[in-house]
Amino acid sequence: MRMYDIIVKKRSGIALSEEEIRWMIAEYTKGNIPDYQMSAFLMSVYFQGMTDEETAILTDAMAGSGERLDLSSLPGVKVDKHSTGGVGDKTTMIVAPIVAACGCTVAKLSGRGLGHTGGTVDKLESIPGTQTSLAKDEFLDVVRRTGIAVTGQSGNLAPADKKLYALRDVTATVDSIPLIAASIMSKKLAAGSDCIVLDVKTGSGAFMKTVEDSIRLAQKMVAIGVRNGKKIAALITDMDVPLGYQIGNALEVEEAVRTLKGEGPEDLTEVSLALATQMLLLADKGDMDECRSLARQAIDSGAALEKLAAMVEGQGGDSDYVYHPEKLGRASFEGEFQAKESGYLAQMDAEGIGIAASLLGAGRETKESTIDPLAGIILLKKTGDAVKQGETIARLLTSEEAKLDGALRRFGEAVAISPKAPRKHPLIYARVTEQGVE
Ligand code: URA
Repeated sequence: MRMYDIIVKKRSGIALSEEEIRWMIAEYTKGNIPDYQMSAFLMSVYFQGMTDEETAILTDAMAGSGERLDLSSLPGVKVDKHSTGGVGDKTTMIVAPIVAACGCTVAKLSGRGLGHTGGTVDKLESIPGTQTSLAKDEFLDVVRRTGIAVTGQSGNLAPADKKLYALRDVTATVDSIPLIAASIMSKKLAAGSDCIVLDVKTGSGAFMKTVEDSIRLAQKMVAIGVRNGKKIAALITDMDVPLGYQIGNALEVEEAVRTLKGEGPEDLTEVSLALATQMLLLADKGDMDECRSLARQAIDSGAALEKLAAMVEGQGGDSDYVYHPEKLGRASFEGEFQAKESGYLAQMDAEGIGIAASLLGAGRETKESTIDPLAGIILLKKTGDAVKQGETIARLLTSEEAKLDGALRRFGEAVAISPKAPRKHPLIYARVTEQGVE
């Protein structure tokens, strides 16, 4: 078989055979296909797309390119969630403890932040002592003892995706629905859970900017999950505006804890409860109303907060920080962004806010950059709120004073004030399951 012929075929819009896809992924993972040929292939997929059949085979080939986690020794129904990435999205730290407190088993692999989006692993690491590169046996042991663990992805999980994603990142081929679907689902399949809930973000801070594209992506991923025997559902949720009011690693831990204490912001609480409900529903814990009420009770009783503390403790961290997140501390330098005029906050572009947080030190420019765990942004106003000239819209925090000016400038470019109140966006647009779109 020749990679050249596969490129020509895909470039001409002809569907590839299973043998061709499996050969290509195996050879690329081994280093036998050069990046320039794979780049040409990815660009052909970007323009020609892939059939559902091709996407499913590609996903399976990528999932099988390395180790597959075997969770069968763990008790209970294993449930997983995945967000396509956003700004201020700390839902894993809320949802995973809720469903674990309701008797589900959560053995979750999470990522680090890159670019304008944050990652759960970085957030958890802002809790002193918390280990996020657990060896497989350690990871399974924490889950067995506490019902929940969240660790970083080992290098050998879907290694084909690791190579392909790095290449897509520099060849302008990230935002292709079949490539995103195969990338995400290959990791989810290799991670071994029985039930998967996908949080597909839509809007300015998401990969998919329109609801229609987000639904198409969700449908592809749900179809792949069903084909592989998984119970799977997706929610399409808003990422035009950051989720919650705090962006940055320790700041997000603090807000997640507040939400687990029942004192979180409305949008974050609602999205978290909706995701937890879907996970409990897939795990057969009751009907929709029962699952929602189970999730609510896990917050109200304090059981979910205790689960987060048990997980942190199990992973070597100090759970005192979970009960008293104010002990995480505040960055030394602070700048305030004030409204230049009176009116309504008409726009708070999530991507721009994420970049401003990153400039403060909360994110990394490259995979090698180090993170300032205390850096970030506290929003005092969000889209739709009335503001007066001179009123503070946000507080920007960093441990390096020199970073404040650039971040304040970038923050300013992301917000707009208008005399008229903007139209309100829904928080949750749709649910996608095997049965269709609701
Ligand atoms: N997240 C992933 O893991 N892969 C993609 O392609 C996009 C988002």
